[in-house]
Amino acid sequence: MSIVGLPDTAVKESSERVSAAIKNTKLDLPLRKITVNLAPANIKKEGSAFDLPIALGILAANGLIKQDNLSKYIILGELSLDGRIRPIKGALSMAAMAKKEGFHGLLVPLENSAEAAVVNALNIYPVETLPQAMEFLNGTTQIEPRRIDTQEELFNGSSYEIDFTDVKGQHHVKRALEIAAAGGHNILLMGPPGSGKSMLAKRIPTILPSLTLQEAIETTQIHSVLGLLKNSSGLLLTRPFRSPHHTISDAGLIGGGRTPQPGEISLSHNGVLFLDEMPEFKRNVLEVLRQPLEERSVSISRASGSLTYPANIMLVGALNSCPCGFKSHPRKECHCTPIQIKKYLSKISGPLLDRIDIHIEVPSIEYKEFSSNSVGEASSKIRERVEKARKIQLERFKNSKIYCNCNMTTRQLKTHCHLEESSQKIMALAMDKLGLSARAHDRILKVSRTIADLGSEESIRSEHVAEAIQYRSLDMGNWA
Ligand SMILES: Nc1ncnc2c1ncn2[C@@H]1O[C@H](COP(=O)(O)OP(=O)(O)OP(=O)(O)O)[C@@H](O)[C@H]1O
Ligand SMILES: [Mg+2]
Ligand SMILES: [Zn+2]
Repeated sequence: MSIVGLPDTAVKESSERVSAAIKNTKLDLPLRKITVNLAPANIKKEGSAFDLPIALGILAANGLIKQDNLSKYIILGELSLDGRIRPIKGALSMAAMAKKEGFHGLLVPLENSAEAAVVNALNIYPVETLPQAMEFLNGTTQIEPRRIDTQEELFNGSSYEIDFTDVKGQHHVKRALEIAAAGGHNILLMGPPGSGKSMLAKRIPTILPSLTLQEAIETTQIHSVLGLLKNSSGLLLTRPFRSPHHTISDAGLIGGGRTPQPGEISLSHNGVLFLDEMPEFKRNVLEVLRQPLEERSVSISRASGSLTYPANIMLVGALNSCPCGFKSHPRKECHCTPIQIKKYLSKISGPLLDRIDIHIEVPSIEYKEFSSNSVGEASSKIRERVEKARKIQLERFKNSKIYCNCNMTTRQLKTHCHLEESSQKIMALAMDKLGLSARAHDRILKVSRTIADLGSEESIRSEHVAEAIQYRSLDMGNWA
């Protein structure tokens, strides 16, 4: 058997799997030379999903399957040597395409049927073996199409296993996270090891607005492309939280490869991308984040054309106070020199820092607080306030392309962030006395706007500005 039409290695090897599967399920493999032509010939064929359609095509050519039934369905699946059908990648996107092209239905491996069924109003037939697929196409076996009520799944299943009630103390950090969530601001957490930075970051998705169906489908689609969905759940029901290790490559982070695959930033789409130990990331890796953060999507161009993946994320960075980590620790001693500290912090470049609106210190909590029985506020309560503030923003930006304070342009800042005289005074004082830059000025304005929105206040008052100024500790130079 030979396969033509730009097959990659996995597709070429398909001939071995297909002939073994046909033989091992006691079906007839014609004793002639078989040429499988994958048309159109100019498009590269990748992956193992062609196994099942190739096998069925051969059986049909041999007169074992009714030809006209074949054309009604899109058929996908990898074959194992014994004829069982194994899962593939990207079933959701292919189901969406099948619906758009007006196909009657989709034959997919059982493991992929839930994700494919996310595309409602298309018949998704889960198949487990080659003979079963053949009998189905011949009408001798019925298969119940897989259905998923996406609305209901989302309604019932969108709860998190973690909650802000687990976090003791750290009230000012929680407040900063609430503001960040409310305005969609990127945030930087700074503090000694063990102070709870990772613990806090992981809980941010729990206070972001509830996932909409559209958002859930978008995010699921990206996870489907990489084959990362678990069998049972068709739809990703919660906002993603991704925490790549600092040794990650730039392609791993923003996407890449010969046929561009989505990276961590797209896997975090509609959720949180957490960069723990941010200064440890390679500089070029952090640099490539800048554009996607601005554009909320990633474009990867290749000779074969360019591809765009969505990347609407909240970036959360964490770093220690200094290379040893104990600079801001109440009792432990730090031996880092000012030069070492400066060098450590400077690894996060200015332009990237520019896209992070809020910096917050996370101190180690005292044993007294840690051992107390007081229970913190629940994520659901915080989320209610966040959603209220987001509603105000949706109304504010209804005639523009943005929907969050964090994305305001300089023009929009002028229109929506007018400062009263008392607020202007505080801002001027901060700029002069603390040596804040012009770029810090705009960040402060945006965050002030969000703080006012959280309080349902039309105008930005002096206390809003004063609070926002506190969230620029890295600019104030009182850190290094
Ligand atoms: N405020 C807190 N309330 C309850 N538990 C806490 C709190 N802070 C820290 N902990 C406990 O300490 C553990 C360590 O916290 P975490 O890993 O989040 O710290 P970290 O700041 O990320 O440290 P590192 O810099 O080493 O990554 C948590 O798993 C949690 O059990
Ligand atoms: Mg950590
Ligand atoms: Zn130190």
